[in-house]
Amino acid sequence: MVKKVAHIAIAVPSVDEAARFYTEQLGLKLERKETVPHRKVTVGFIQVGDTKVELVQPDTPDAPVAGFLAVRGPGLHHICFEVDDVDAEFQRLKAAGVRIVDPEPQAGAGGTRAFFIHPKSTGGVLIELSQRV
Ligand code: CO
Repeated sequence: MVKKVAHIAIAVPSVDEAARFYTEQLGLKLERKETVPHRKVTVGFIQVGDTKVELVQPDTPDAPVAGFLAVRGPGLHHICFEVDDVDAEFQRLKAAGVRIVDPEPQAGAGGTRAFFIHPKSTGGVLIELSQRV
């Protein structure tokens, strides 16, 4: 079951540079930064009420998000919904023929387990489902 929007992720060349708009112009706070080695990114989280903006910066030229930036430029990358059982959602969606990017749920930023659903199955937006662990 989907509980809430966990975060809205934006692909950026630099977390620190992109965060300046949110901190200096909107008065929000960059709460923390974290590297996610298996996705080759550094992410920065900005709390916005009950949800977050996640700034996603590639750490290597072969990071998937580096390809996204090269083709589309900085901008909305994915929306993440928090679920109560990520493994059950994974199995259910896979059985329903939904196109899933990851072979199985992965460890994500902020102590979560998560997987991505391909935009072809969602109407054009990359969607992440994540569970807090
Ligand atoms: Co995310």
